[in-house]
Formats: sequence, C-alpha cells, structure tokens
Amino acid sequence: MKPRFEPGFSDLAAALRTAQHVCVLTGAGISAESGVPTFRDAQQGLWAKYDPHQLATPEAFEEDPELLWRWYRWRRDLVAKADPNPGHLALAKLAELVPRLTLVTQNVDGLHQRAGSHGVIEFHGNLFDDRCHAEGCVIVHDQRAEVPVCPNCGAHLRPGVVWFGEAIAETALNESFAAAADCSVFLSVGTSSLVYPAAGLVDIARENGAIVAEINPNPTLNSGNYDFAIAANAGVALPELVESLLN
Ligand code: OAD
Repeated sequence: MKPRFEPGFSDLAAALRTAQHVCVLTGAGISAESGVPTFRDAQQGLWAKYDPHQLATPEAFEEDPELLWRWYRWRRDLVAKADPNPGHLALAKLAELVPRLTLVTQNVDGLHQRAGSHGVIEFHGNLFDDRCHAEGCVIVHDQRAEVPVCPNCGAHLRPGVVWFGEAIAETALNESFAAAADCSVFLSVGTSSLVYPAAGLVDIARENGAIVAEINPNPTLNSGNYDFAIAANAGVALPELVESLLN
C-alpha cells in the first residue's frame, strides 16, 4: 500500500532502515492526542489561555507560590488521567528496531516512559518531581501543604520543571547535544521549534551530516530546513513509520 504522507514518508522510512543512531526530539504535540494541551496552538494551547510570565518563571513562583502550586497540581491531575497514545508507543517500538535511539523530550508529562521508552532525556524536567527552590535537589515528600517545604532547609519546594529564564540541567544539555551531533537521522516530532536551546538541536544534527525530518500537522518556522516535513499527526504517522520498518 502506498503510504499516505508523501512526499517524504518513504524517504524517511528508508533513512531509518539504515540509520545507526536516531535522535528524536519531541514536543507537546506528541501528547496532544492523549488529551494533554499544547502550549501554542491557537485555541487550546496553554499559553493562549494563561500568561507564562505569571505561571512559568521563578519570579512568579516567588511572588505567589500558592497560585503556581494550584496550577501545577491541576496539570499533574490532568496528566495523571492521560494515557500514552500510539505516537508514544511507536517511538518505544522504534527504539527496538534501530541500533541506537536517543529520545529527547521537551515534555514534562512522563508519557514516553509510561509508553515503555527508556533513557528519556527530559530537557525541561518532570512535572511530578518536587524540587527545593533554594538548593535544586529533588525531594520525595508526602506533604499536603498548599506550598510544601524542603525538609532539609525549609525553603519552598517547587515543581521540577524548567521555567523561562532558567538553565537546562547540564547533563540533559550535554547528552542531547552529543546525540544530535552523532546521529544519522534526526526526527523532530510535535514541536513548534520556537524554544531554544531545544530548537537548535536540529541545526547541530544537520551540520554534522544527519538527515533531518519533522512530523507536525502544521508548518513550523523550521519546516523549510528539513529534508522531509511530514504533515501529519504523530499518533498516525509514527505507527505507520514503524509498520513500514517491520515490512
Ligand atoms: P508548542 O505548543 O509550542 O508546539 C506544539 C506543536 O505541536 C505545534 O507546532 C503543533 O502544530 C504540533 N502538534 C499539534 N498536534 C499535534 C499532533 N497530534 N502531532 C504532532 N504535532 C502536533 O509546544 P512545544 O514546541 O513543545 O517549555 O513547546 C516548547 C516549550 O515551550 C515547552 O517545553 C514549554 C513551552 O513553554 C517549558 O515549559 C520550559
């Protein structure tokens, strides 16, 4: 059967068949089909409804930690009720079909891990971690306080996500840059490619000779720079891609 997502789909499948190392970067779009809202889609995106400066900066947390905890608890509940979708599951399967796959995600929802992916690099942290806002360490706690505190130093605990103006964890940054430089195929899935440094990974891959491809139903600012831009939902295109590798 002829794949539905030409041009590009067969070429991408062929590149994956011979790839020694595949690096995949995912964004909020891959979790959209699980019911987790993206950030920038016009109607449903979180940043279309809420101001990121009031909810995703260290300054906002310091000003009103209760408000931020209420918002992040709402997001935790939403994600806890969501299930991985066929796109997440296909990436876990793809890792079994190629010699090496590095999965870098900007998502904080943990759905890749729940789909069975291993060694996921969480570029923007994890929604379910509680981190000391003063010391940075991840704390396991069972406090029900509106704003939990660090048992070591008494500072406020905060969700373990990266906020605007904050640095990416050094290990995540180094491992992602190294994977982008080393891979033979780089696949960008469900990201608007507007937030750096994650959006720069594709340039590292391309400069080092990788074939670069994008899966996104909508064009992005980067679409023209990819070897192949597959205009489709991740939950449809990724399973078909995996299926084509099995045949
Ligand atoms: P965005 O909301 O910016 O972009 C989501 C992308 O997913 C858009 O380009 C959509 O077209 C695409 N999309 C929607 N549905 C899709 C589907 N079913 N399959 C594939 N693609 C689909 O989200 P990100 O690019 O992830 O940062 O945003 C990057 C960062 O900005 C986030 O990690 C977050 C945010 O502020 C932090 O929280 C630090």
